[in-house]
Amino acid sequence: MKTIHISTQFTIYDHLEDCPPEIQDLMQQAIQARKKSYSPYSKFSVGAALLLENGSTVTGSNQENACYPAGLCAERTALFYAGAQYPQETMTAMAITASAADLETLEPVPPCGSCRQALSEYEVKQKMPLALYFMGASGKVMYSPSVENILPLLFTKKYL
Ligand code: THU
Repeated sequence: MKTIHISTQFTIYDHLEDCPPEIQDLMQQAIQARKKSYSPYSKFSVGAALLLENGSTVTGSNQENACYPAGLCAERTALFYAGAQYPQETMTAMAITASAADLETLEPVPPCGSCRQALSEYEVKQKMPLALYFMGASGKVMYSPSVENILPLLFTKKYL
């Protein structure tokens, strides 16, 4: 028998202004995307901005549905658009911002498990890390250098 230890590592920036300039810009785009969230049921708005190696940015927001499971998270809205429009382009970083409508969320909100799994597909495909920066409405920003860092023991095509 053996025990394995898997460690994850995050950097916490106290303010968005402490992040690298290109990430500040990416997060500003995520904030703008969050304002376009369609979330009448949860009243929880999420915006995501995905930076590609060619310098393009793709944004997305959560899109809800009266049939709740038919809705989609902001991260996957941006991710699938990028996958569809720029299939050959490496995805370098994603900025995510989320907030409840009634109470400004000040803690960083990490991507849900389904989004982590979806993001990991592209990270594995491109063989390059996809960095994640996530925030509440404002305040601290958490940085994960890769998707795998927040989803150890990835389920990938190698098991199929
Ligand atoms: N949501 C996201 O957009 N991303 C996440 O990673 C977590 C949750 C959305 C889905 C739903 O519209 C609302 O937030 C509440 O769960």
